[in-house]
Amino acid sequence: MAFDIDLIRRVYDALPAKVAAARQQLGKPLTLTEKILYTHLHPESRLQAYGRGKDYVFFQPDRVAMQDATAQMALLQFMMAGRDKVAVPSTVHCDHLILAETGADADLARANDENSEVYDFLSTVSDKYGIGFWKPGAGIIHQIVLENYAFPGGMMIGTDSHTPNAGGLGMVAIGVGGADAVDVMAGMPWELKMPKVIGVKLTGKLSGWTTPKDVILKVAGVLTVKGGTGAIVEYFGEGARSMSCTGKGTICNMGAEIGATTSTFGYDDSMSRYLKATDRADVAELADRVAEHLTGDAEVYANPEQYFDRVIEIDLNTLEPHINGPYTPDRAFPISQFAAAVEKFEFPPVLEVGLIGSCTNSSYEDLDRSANIAKDAKAKGLRFKSEFTVTPGSEQIRYTVERDGILAAFEETGATVLANACGPCIGQWARHTDDPNRANSILTSFNRNFAKRNDGNPQTRGFVASPELVTAMALSGSMKFNPLTDTLTNDKGEQVKLDPPTGYELPPNGFAVEDAGFQSPAEDGSGIEVRVSETSDRLQLLEPFKPIQSEQVQNMRVLIKAKGKCTTDHISMAGPWLTYRGHLENISQNCLIGAINAYSEKTNTVLNYVTGEYMAVPDSGITYRDNGIGQIVVGEENYGEGSSREHAAMEPRFLGVHAVLVKSFARIHETNLKKQGMLALTFVNPDDYDKIRQDDKVSITDFSAMAPDRHLTVQLDHADGTHESFQVAHTYNLAQIDWVRAGSALNKIREELSR
Ligand code: F3S
Repeated sequence: MAFDIDLIRRVYDALPAKVAAARQQLGKPLTLTEKILYTHLHPESRLQAYGRGKDYVFFQPDRVAMQDATAQMALLQFMMAGRDKVAVPSTVHCDHLILAETGADADLARANDENSEVYDFLSTVSDKYGIGFWKPGAGIIHQIVLENYAFPGGMMIGTDSHTPNAGGLGMVAIGVGGADAVDVMAGMPWELKMPKVIGVKLTGKLSGWTTPKDVILKVAGVLTVKGGTGAIVEYFGEGARSMSCTGKGTICNMGAEIGATTSTFGYDDSMSRYLKATDRADVAELADRVAEHLTGDAEVYANPEQYFDRVIEIDLNTLEPHINGPYTPDRAFPISQFAAAVEKFEFPPVLEVGLIGSCTNSSYEDLDRSANIAKDAKAKGLRFKSEFTVTPGSEQIRYTVERDGILAAFEETGATVLANACGPCIGQWARHTDDPNRANSILTSFNRNFAKRNDGNPQTRGFVASPELVTAMALSGSMKFNPLTDTLTNDKGEQVKLDPPTGYELPPNGFAVEDAGFQSPAEDGSGIEVRVSETSDRLQLLEPFKPIQSEQVQNMRVLIKAKGKCTTDHISMAGPWLTYRGHLENISQNCLIGAINAYSEKTNTVLNYVTGEYMAVPDSGITYRDNGIGQIVVGEENYGEGSSREHAAMEPRFLGVHAVLVKSFARIHETNLKKQGMLALTFVNPDDYDKIRQDDKVSITDFSAMAPDRHLTVQLDHADGTHESFQVAHTYNLAQIDWVRAGSALNKIREELSR
């Protein structure tokens, strides 16, 4: 699996001098975030003090990781970049395409059969271009990265929004779209607006039922789904040091839910212990030598208000377990108030399914502590009242917890163990239910709970909590159960109370695995041929997008004016559509079908002005495109929040949408639109959203004069013959405007490599 020790040595050797130079240049003590960012500047961005939240900067990440759903499009794009090998260590992880139905073995066998074309493609491209390939069943990308590749002070990008999980090992790890991964794999600088830094000071120590997950559930409640946008969250304090490395990973993982660029922790003993336990004592030894540079300066943590853009303090001694949801991960309830909330908001009171594991919460510690609850329950005459599933994060974890009797403890109490894969977390769940449309509650230890995400049923209320709380509540079968105070009736009719969970942080007998599921790439891949069948409905070679011309953004039709929340799941649904992630034409049939049309309040039905008929959004887009009519999409706040998938940008581009105009963007999606050569615009006055009518013709009158820091003008020609115009803003710098002029960032890369 070969993490690159030479790479880590090089990073650490250069660290002291680079940190000292950055400190001198900035003229102040440094946060950990600044140390990592300033030591990863690309030569194209010289060392100077960059404005946080303002200046675009080029970085040089140490590695790239891709999951199978996003890797297909990323690698299809990389193949067009004209390189023989990836420029930095990169890996592909087959975790998203495995449908959870009956249990690990059968589900994996079926996935191998049904997805063989895609797995073969990913394996062959990886082999050819020097990319490490993790086979189906090897585990979930973020768990494998933490176990094998993450290292303190490093910087990586990953084509999955929960890439920040590696912050648990002190990295700056950022979720991006496939197009960014292509930049880095092609050896181009990777661009990011210098993030703000939010400091979270953790005092006290976790105990009883409270877990690291509750820290991030609490932070999500404070910051909301937008509060971390454009910022890196840096955790520090005695509370941070007292937590396990994998617990830190959970916190960083779910930082994606507050829109944060990423989250990280300073190097400490817990990280050293984890590195040693995962066979990387040499990395721990190297890190120990430069430990002072792998954490924020003492003065920063002594006077945080002075150095962070915002500071939040959480006392772990008094922090309660939390349950967040439904439909949004920032609706936070302390457990003591949750039963009342179930009554007040009429959440379905029966807990139908409890699901633990996933990339967020499948560490040895998580599973051992939860298994001990199951053991305690069994000894007290209890069994799961809800359906209960366990998803190990990797084969190494699965093998180890099986060896240590942890899986047996779950299974003996009535649980199903699923494959080491994303499964129900990403809607890959053939849920057993008598009525797939019934209102119901489920509770997961995952990170994300948007409508329909887990089982496709809009009536399912998905809540998130720690695996310990999910386990306890699944034993009760009730959403109103509070294990801290309540008793349960056992098989003898007695009232029994669960003990607070305990467990090992790391396996006392070490991790073990027989076949981790890794395939090393060929030394020389030049003779390897990658074939994509022209008749395939899952994979399709790409054609470069053509640059937008000025006349195409005149008299555009509104493809859809989306009302309310419009996440990447609304724009490009997951679930069954995962099948088409490598086929742009086919997956474009799901474009915006989940968005609510502001004019009709319905999904996937819009009035088309070529035919005068209502039709599905993708059909309307194709009709406009084929008639040479440009299109614009309009939306509200935090448009495109959620996943990093660039399909949400490529699909409208493919359908002929030239501009997306919204009240505000989620960062990754805004960048993805830019990379695909589209216009990502925001209302200067958000009330102008109301001016756009269904039958308008919309023009960007000064598109040809587009320049950084200058607003553009939108003119509306209403059907009644009246006109209105207003200003719209954008955040394109000169290089990004070049992407628009070239047709896409990839077109620009190819131009540059061929020079
Ligand atoms: Fe997979 Fe869910 Fe994590 S989709 S990568 S388990 S957030």
